Amino acid sequence: MGEQIAGLDVLGEDYFADPHAFHARLREEAAASPIVLPRGTRAWLVTRYEEARSALADPRFSKHFERFPEVMERNQLVHNEPTKFDEALVQHMLNMDPPHHTRQRKLVTKAFTARRVEQLRPRVQEITDRLLDEAGEKGDVDLVDALAFPLPITVICEMLDVPLDRRDEFRVWSNALVGGGTGDPQALQQAGANMATYLAELVEHKRANPGDDFFSALVHADDEGDRLNPMELIAMAFLLLVAGHETTVNLIANGVFHLARHPDQLAKLRADRTLLPGAVEEVLRFESPVNQATFRYTNEDVELGGVVIPKDSVVVVSLSGGNRDGSKFPDPDRFDIARHTAGHLAFGHGIHFCLGAPLARMEGEIAIGSLFDRFDVTVTAEEDRLRWRPVTLIRGLESLPVSLTPRGPR
Ligand code: HEM
Repeated sequence: MGEQIAGLDVLGEDYFADPHAFHARLREEAAASPIVLPRGTRAWLVTRYEEARSALADPRFSKHFERFPEVMERNQLVHNEPTKFDEALVQHMLNMDPPHHTRQRKLVTKAFTARRVEQLRPRVQEITDRLLDEAGEKGDVDLVDALAFPLPITVICEMLDVPLDRRDEFRVWSNALVGGGTGDPQALQQAGANMATYLAELVEHKRANPGDDFFSALVHADDEGDRLNPMELIAMAFLLLVAGHETTVNLIANGVFHLARHPDQLAKLRADRTLLPGAVEEVLRFESPVNQATFRYTNEDVELGGVVIPKDSVVVVSLSGGNRDGSKFPDPDRFDIARHTAGHLAFGHGIHFCLGAPLARMEGEIAIGSLFDRFDVTVTAEEDRLRWRPVTLIRGLESLPVSLTPRGPR
């Protein structure tokens, strides 16, 4: 690795280019290792499967937003202007412990059940077909811009009945906020403020003009009379829209990338379509779109796999690390669409297990399946010219130039 602070590796360019090699080294050494995050915060990185899984479900690793800034500050190794996250955006369930988490999650669970999501299937197929028609006409496209990004964002915006007209701005703010610790603090603050203002306007609009969409339902009381307050509504809209923007895009692009560079696996998939769901699971395991779970912190000393993580530490569970642990997944660096992937950590584990998993899986299957049904896909950039996004949270390509050749009837 490149830079060090206080004798600890800083997660920087080398890490973004190949996090797997770094995780493999740490995994050999210990269950959890101290490292430094890109903006100089000391944290413990968990890279083994068993410990990653148990940490994700352990209430001693808190996520509650109230003490979070203080813990981050305590672990700051270099002086940096503190990155202030807009207050309106933090009060969502991914930043909460029970009972607050339980209450918020209950209010939104209904919209994301496998049954509700299944009802969206024809519409997801329709959007995919239209995007593939357009991409096919061009022939040479950036797969991220042509399919991987617009599909999930159109779906989540339709679910919430949010207009698509400010989609480009939203993408810029969302990317800056997810980059979080890596970008310029002022740009981050500005992105947060813009996002909060935009979402506050949306919430107001929904209050005045309720529809039969899921967002309108959230604005109004649920069956038992509980409802989100205005601040929580803004934060919830933020969580759902950002999750819709930043994750499935990478499942689709990472999947196309790995299938295109593993022709034997693609041939297997084309020969047997029943392998498609398993192929999507293998993409999730092999190149997990969420590289690291969101931050946790300790309220007491916690022992994890023989390592004592002191009170008030920042803890980062590496989902990619757990998913490439050979003690759980034999020959973990081999991409194999027919392997057993059950128990992978790509959607997290425990009470914060991804609410959008059924939706993401369906979108991934439809996008990847339809693309390879209709086209032969050649990646047109040399592999070493492809850039992975310089952020720790997400594992995704900045762009994926491809050439699409229609396949004849088989
Ligand atoms: C391939 C796509 C996706 C991946 C890999 C993914 C991954 C994850 C992970 C790892 C977590 C837990 C984070 C942690 O414990 O720190 C999570 C939580 C969450 N995800 Fe996803 N996600 C995806 C798509 C989506 C979509 C499409 C939505 C909804 C629009 C969504 C909504 C959420 C929500 C609301 C939570 C918080 C749940 C809670 O705190 O109880 N995700 N996701």
